[in-house]
Amino acid sequence: MLLGTNGSGKSTLLRILTGLLSAQSGRIKVVPPVGFVFQNPDHQLVMPTVGADIAFGLVEEKLPFAEMRQRVDEALIAVNLLHLQRRPIYALSGGQKQRIAIAGAIARHCEVLLLDEPTALLDPDSQLDLVAQVQRLVKSRGMTALWVTHRLEELDYADGAFLLEQGQVVDRGDPSRLKQRLMQHMGDEN
Ligand SMILES: Nc1ncnc2c1ncn2[C@@H]1O[C@H](COP(=O)(O)OP(=O)(O)O)[C@@H](O)[C@H]1O
Ligand SMILES: [Mg+2]
Repeated sequence: MLLGTNGSGKSTLLRILTGLLSAQSGRIKVVPPVGFVFQNPDHQLVMPTVGADIAFGLVEEKLPFAEMRQRVDEALIAVNLLHLQRRPIYALSGGQKQRIAIAGAIARHCEVLLLDEPTALLDPDSQLDLVAQVQRLVKSRGMTALWVTHRLEELDYADGAFLLEQGQVVDRGDPSRLKQRLMQHMGDEN
C-alpha cells in the first residue's frame, strides 16, 4: 500500500509505472502488461456489458474466439462475478465495477495491478469487500498489487506499506507500524 497526503506524488508514481508518464530522472523497469484500476469506477468500463468489456481488453491479442471466451470466464470466476457476464455496466454497483476492472486485468494476464484509491467512492461494505478480494488474488494467483489509499483501516490487508511526501519515500515497512504513526499524526492535528 502506498500512502501520502494530497499532492505527494502517488498518482504520478502509478502513471510512471504504467508508462503513461515518463520519469524526469532515474530508471524504472516494469514488465507489461500492467493492470490499472482508477478511483472512479465509471472512468474505465467502456463497453455496454460486463462480458463485452472484458473481451474488449483482449482485442489486440487477436485470440481465437474460444480462447477469448475462456479468458473472460476465467477472469470473472476469479472475482466471483461470473453470473454478471451479460449484465449491462450501468446496472452494476460501484464495488462490482471495480471488480470488473480487476477482472479485465486478470483476463490480460497482468501480474501487476495498480489501484489508485479504488475504494474512494465506495460504501464501507464494498470498500472492505474489494480490499479482501485483492488480498485473495495476490495470495491465490501470485499477483502483485500496489494500492493507493487514504483509508487507514485498509492497511490491515497489506503486506507492506510506503509513505510518500513531496515525491520521496519517507517511511516504509510494517503496515501496522505505519498505521500507528499516521493515526498518531492525525491525533496531533486535532
Ligand atoms: N505531468 C505532470 N508534470 C509535472 N507535475 C505534475 C504532473 N502531474 C502531477 N504533477 C504534480 O505532481 C504532484 C503530485 O501529484 P499527484 O501524483 O497527483 O499526487 P497524489 O496522487 O499523491 O495526490 C502535484 O504537485 C501535481 O501538481
Ligand atoms: Mg492521486
